[in-house]
Amino acid sequence: MKEREVVIVSNRLPLSIKHDQGVAKARRSSGGLVTALLPILRDKGGVWIGNAGTHEDEHATELLQQEARNEGFACVPIYVTEQEDRNFYEGFSNQVLWPLFHDFIGECRFEPAYWEFYRKVNAKFADAVMSVYRGDQTLWVHDYQLMHVAAALRERGCKGRVAFFLHTPFPSYDVFAKLPWRRDLLLSLLQYDLIGLQTERDTRNLVSCLRRLVPEAVMTSTHTAHHVMFQGRRIVIQDFPISIDFEEFAQAAREPEVEERTRSIIARMGMGQMIFGVDRQDYTKGIPHRLRAYGALLRRRPDLVGRVRLVQIVVPSRQNIPGYEALKARIEHLVASINGEFTQPGWVPIHYIHRSIPREELLALYRAANVALVTPLKDGMNLVAKEFCATRIDDHGVLVLSEFAGAAAEMYRGALLVNPFDLEGVAGALEQALEMPLNQQQERMRKLRRFLKHANVHRWVNEFMQVIEHVNHHGSTRSNH
Ligand code: ADP
Ligand code: G6P
Repeated sequence: MKEREVVIVSNRLPLSIKHDQGVAKARRSSGGLVTALLPILRDKGGVWIGNAGTHEDEHATELLQQEARNEGFACVPIYVTEQEDRNFYEGFSNQVLWPLFHDFIGECRFEPAYWEFYRKVNAKFADAVMSVYRGDQTLWVHDYQLMHVAAALRERGCKGRVAFFLHTPFPSYDVFAKLPWRRDLLLSLLQYDLIGLQTERDTRNLVSCLRRLVPEAVMTSTHTAHHVMFQGRRIVIQDFPISIDFEEFAQAAREPEVEERTRSIIARMGMGQMIFGVDRQDYTKGIPHRLRAYGALLRRRPDLVGRVRLVQIVVPSRQNIPGYEALKARIEHLVASINGEFTQPGWVPIHYIHRSIPREELLALYRAANVALVTPLKDGMNLVAKEFCATRIDDHGVLVLSEFAGAAAEMYRGALLVNPFDLEGVAGALEQALEMPLNQQQERMRKLRRFLKHANVHRWVNEFMQVIEHVNHHGSTRSNH
């Protein structure tokens, strides 16, 4: 039997246009999702549909499609207007769904125009899908920006199997219920055949929202999944914790350039220890809380002054959105204030880097760190926590991890779990991490690495694809939808 082709739909294409000395060039982006999905597209054949990230331009389309062909897949770039970008991306996606799904209700702006544009732009994605749809491909839509795509596809007569994966958390009923379009959004979601979420917590939250807000849906559960019967169709809801390409990170960590940079960072640290954090500039990542916890550590352990450093990288993100801009000022105020309080000639407590850094530098920092401090206030998964462990080919280093990251559900045995809101608790975990004997570090890190080697992103894709192959196939009564 010929394998079904796959159509991947995500807000961003895994390609972008860069200008090199005035010449536009398309480049493949790095990132776990791309690494994991490309082999599937190459094997089964298929198309990736996503935002081109630039203004509409035939030349851009040609460049992107040529680069995609070089990488062994096809792509359909989508162009959104400035007005659509403001209302769909900056508006509904990032000032409604992103804060709501991360329990930041105070950052939400429930503008009716945002919802209207969200559906309109999702319909634009659906049009692009229909332009390549032949009735037999598997359609896989990604993330919170595109929850309405299946509903728009059904309106366009698509009867095929459509799956969705949410990379963010799904909130509890009490939070979700605040959304003015709460039932509409759930009805949109129910047009998918498979809804994948990161953790059991998220599936439980979605199921409880469905029970309250769509009482006519009939729900049953097995030990692996929830099934929803709705309008004669069966929808599967299941958790699939995303992961990273473990082997790729472990191998890259051994590259001579990374080795060299690691040695140089360690040499520059002298005898001191290094705590490392790297995050997008996002209020969900808990960067101010983390800085304050580090300040608390130095205050209660003056002997650590001069002997430990925090290297915090903040990668600029979503800069046109008000909450993100305010966060930068807050972080910089705290860095200045803690550095002002503790700096001594020749030693600065916080090394703050506000820019993106090359991949080799990131890997070297993972390898050189004594402690990775990953303390989001809420996070779908958090790949930084997993990447840190994958690069620790020496089995050293301690992961201090927020219990509110999806990763905590899998990594609790090897990491030191903390409540990121509890500053003294985080300071205490940092003390424990900095003082942990090497044999205990090794024991924990080996556990984490053994787990990640097996639970890698390739397994994630395969499990998801296997489940899609069986939904809307056996048991579903969609045939006359
Ligand atoms: P989020 O998806 O919310 O940003 P994650 O922790 O899940 O949070 O993923 C962040 C990703 O960004 C990781 O894969 C990490 O390697 C990557 N990353 C971090 N810093 C950089 C950088 N300077 N350049 C490129 N990628 C980076
Ligand atoms: C998170 C989201 C992704 C998003 C990424 C970067 O990981 O789950 O969907 O692409 O952040 O955010 P941006 O808004 O720059 O795409």
